Amino acid sequence: MDSIVVTGNGPLSGRIAIAGAKNACLTLMPATLLTEEPLTLLNAPRLSDIRTMAQLLQSLGAEVSALQDGKVLAMSSHALDNHRADYDIVRKMRASILVLGPMLARDGHAVVSLPGGCAIGARPVDLHLQALEALGAELDLRDGYVHAKAPSGGLKGGRVRFPLVSVGATENVLMAATLARGTTVIENAAREPEIVDLAQCLRKMGAQIEGEGTHTITVEGVERLGGATHRVVTDRIELGTYMLAPAICGGEVECLGGRRDLVGAFCERLEAAGISIEETESGLKVARRNGRVQAVDVTTEPYPGFPTDLQAQMMALLCTAEGTSVLEEKIFENRFMHAPELMRMGARIDVSGGTAKVHGVENLKGAPVMATDLRASVSLILAGLAAEGDTMVNRVYHLDRGYEQVVEKLAGVGAKIERVAA
Ligand code: EPZ
Repeated sequence: MDSIVVTGNGPLSGRIAIAGAKNACLTLMPATLLTEEPLTLLNAPRLSDIRTMAQLLQSLGAEVSALQDGKVLAMSSHALDNHRADYDIVRKMRASILVLGPMLARDGHAVVSLPGGCAIGARPVDLHLQALEALGAELDLRDGYVHAKAPSGGLKGGRVRFPLVSVGATENVLMAATLARGTTVIENAAREPEIVDLAQCLRKMGAQIEGEGTHTITVEGVERLGGATHRVVTDRIELGTYMLAPAICGGEVECLGGRRDLVGAFCERLEAAGISIEETESGLKVARRNGRVQAVDVTTEPYPGFPTDLQAQMMALLCTAEGTSVLEEKIFENRFMHAPELMRMGARIDVSGGTAKVHGVENLKGAPVMATDLRASVSLILAGLAAEGDTMVNRVYHLDRGYEQVVEKLAGVGAKIERVAA
């Protein structure tokens, strides 16, 4: 297993190009199952999760070609010769559950492995299943799989009321509803930019959708969907991650393709900590000029609140802030696994349940640390950028799931960072 070695090397300077959103691409790809026509995605990120989703779609009978070094995904599913998503793929990537709704809507039946838990929490899929049942799906859970069937006339429109906001469940039922007979109303829908991106792509395919980005989405089912070409929205989590690099070690970096509306709540917290953010023609320019950042409190919430996927990275910044910051993780039950690793670097963090109190210290010290999940791994790299000496981050396969060329992007703005093969 490879490692990444980071050495504190002073202020950064330059530009970083932000890729297309992993979490948008992972829901846009299964949308190809909704039509026999070609669906082409531009600005796709080159990540292992995307390759895993491509393998899953191919196992179902879809064609997926990665063109232009993986930035273009040309997909089509003339006929599905398999309707079973096996555990060995689904357990590697939970987003595999997003093939359930489209397969059910397209062919009226599907067998999809339950994803099981993951490092950051139990992450059940009950809301996905309840939402599909509201469209008439008959679901039978046995031997670790969901055996799903649509009524003889196909799925029918219904009313879905989510008791809590779920990004994936909103995406699953939104895709299924596009081909259901009649009207579907989704209440307490997730409002993330990835949902808006999916709805815009589905609309290009002929879906009739209103209200994406608000609490209530209404869908009028249609007989069939056509093909489309769609550009994947910028990755707001990669954007926020790289905005934190100059915040943590000083200097100025312009994140190309960044848009403030994608990271509004995050920008507000960063500015409260003393970081300057300027909107430019090509993106967001982030600078830290005067000394230590100030402690700020952070609570993770569904969009447009502070994103849970930036909580670990923000904690890395606050480890060297002046004062004590309180971080509340409200989305997942176990998302502070980066804290003990940061403490190995000299951070002072008290974790109690979903609350972490970060008492800022002047400097962190480099140390060997362990990546436990995707966002925790990049928070350790960010901490290493500002630490004295070398930080070796192990198990970086987590990183490859969500960050393309992280070494090249950070080295390009002056970081001392290299990947070391095991
Ligand atoms: C998506 O996961 C993202 N993944 C996650 O990003 C992100 O952290 C999360 O949304 C929240 O923004 C992708 O888009 C592929 P949820 P998802 O359903 O859809 C509970 C990353 O690092 N819940 O919004 O799985 C769940 O346990 C990843 O890129 C149920 O109880 O998240 C959690 O506590 C990590 N039952 C809360 O809802 C369900 O059926 C929010 O989960 C579904 C979810």
